[in-house]
Amino acid sequence: LGGLRTNAVPGVGTALSGIVFVGEGPGADEDRLGEPFVGRAGQLLDRIIEAINSRRLLPGLTLDRTTVYIANIVKCRPPENRVPLPVEVEACTPYLKRQLAVLKPRIICCLGKTAAEHLLGAKGSLGGMRGKVYRYAGAKLIVTYHPAACLRTPSYKQPVWEDMQLLAREYQAD
Ligand code: URA
Repeated sequence: LGGLRTNAVPGVGTALSGIVFVGEGPGADEDRLGEPFVGRAGQLLDRIIEAINSRRLLPGLTLDRTTVYIANIVKCRPPENRVPLPVEVEACTPYLKRQLAVLKPRIICCLGKTAAEHLLGAKGSLGGMRGKVYRYAGAKLIVTYHPAACLRTPSYKQPVWEDMQLLAREYQAD
């Protein structure tokens, strides 16, 4: 299949907040460090999470890498950062399912199309999938743009912020 990973990148965080973010797969920085979302896209994800705190979307909770969980669809870096192949997703899906079964999150936030399509089991455009509330194994599930997409297309930042407001509303409902 091409490249060999340096480090597997299983995930980081805890079940404390009940919030799980799921991305696509490790990039070069993540492969080097063994931790998800530590490169440029990861720094933007950290800022998004910090904005949830500073804008007081979830009063009483402080979100960071120790109170949310951050994982990916695939645990090893696909060569050249290509979209993971179906056989790679198939190999890693049982692991992600076990992670979610252990974490029992209240809400899952899919970062980008790869995570959304695989957890929802359906193809779609990101614009068509976001803004709705789905269910996954007892958790609520929402979809937003991948932070790497926001870096390429800054106009996605506003919808991402709206999606974080949806996340907070759904988190606090019932
Ligand atoms: N992009 C992802 O989807 N996951 C990471 O861990 C880093 C970048």
